[in-house]
Amino acid sequence: MKKDLLSCQDIDRKDMETIFDLAAKLKAGRGKPNQPRPLEGKSVATIFAKSSTRTRVSFDVGIYELGGHTLYLDQSKTQMGRGETVPDTAHVLERYLAGIVIRTFAQKDVEELAANAKIPVINALTDDFHPCQALTDVFTMLEHAGKTDGLKLAYLGDGASNMANSLTLACKLAGVHLAIAAPEEFQPRKDLLDWKQGTGSAMWTTSVKEAMQDADFVYTDVWVSMGFEEESKRRMSILAPYRLDMATLRLAKPGAKVLHCLPAHRGDEITDEVMDSSASIVFDQAENRLHVQKAIMALLMA
Ligand code: CP
Ligand code: NVA
Repeated sequence: MKKDLLSCQDIDRKDMETIFDLAAKLKAGRGKPNQPRPLEGKSVATIFAKSSTRTRVSFDVGIYELGGHTLYLDQSKTQMGRGETVPDTAHVLERYLAGIVIRTFAQKDVEELAANAKIPVINALTDDFHPCQALTDVFTMLEHAGKTDGLKLAYLGDGASNMANSLTLACKLAGVHLAIAAPEEFQPRKDLLDWKQGTGSAMWTTSVKEAMQDADFVYTDVWVSMGFEEESKRRMSILAPYRLDMATLRLAKPGAKVLHCLPAHRGDEITDEVMDSSASIVFDQAENRLHVQKAIMALLMA
């Protein structure tokens, strides 16, 4: 595997399978005696410039369970918040740490950090990508369906979000056929739709019905991602036809399961009825962040 995980373009199918095999083992062994502690004696920084519940907690707990120590850093309170350069920060942090987990705005900052640090850098969400979440989502589909090859995933809503971008890459690697239903204004990135890797595929349509047809899993994400709050009003009105409600869910394959990276804005992109239905596996998905990220850290930072 490469030193860093900055997007799913950093891994191939074999890496993905290695991550999932280890994640499944760590999940099965959690709480049992003699679990691996590959981060024993090591410190990992988790740097956040944006809000988080799942990512912050699952990385912190994961680092602890792997035997390591977490340093949580609010990016705005570090000297980066006062203009220290990303390369200088990288050269300093690599002297102390076994790895860096970072959630920030610009993907290029994460890339610059990784290019300048000898230690692994894991992207914990940028405006462009959220690879840990997308890998978790595919792992969750694998758990529920027993396979990923040939599955169809329908994604509704903001087709230009970090989640749509990351799912496009992860689904291709996993052999999943992704259909993104999104309006013209929020259509997926063409370079990612065109990415030639794996046996899966990704397509864009403005038709919810077309995307939902024969879908084994249905995914949605918030309409207003972090950092895009000033566009809220426009997004709410343009994306309203892409809401995942019961009538829309019935357009998918009978028994289709519902995924959401969370946090959900109940009543906007997803209704209470769908979130709380037996089709929803969003909390299994949230739990799996822990297992998948532990596997990623064990593989990159040990
Ligand atoms: N899904 C996810 O990354 O959640 P948080 O923003 O709470 O970390
Ligand atoms: N697209 C969302 C994902 C949150 C986990 C955001 O960036 O806010």
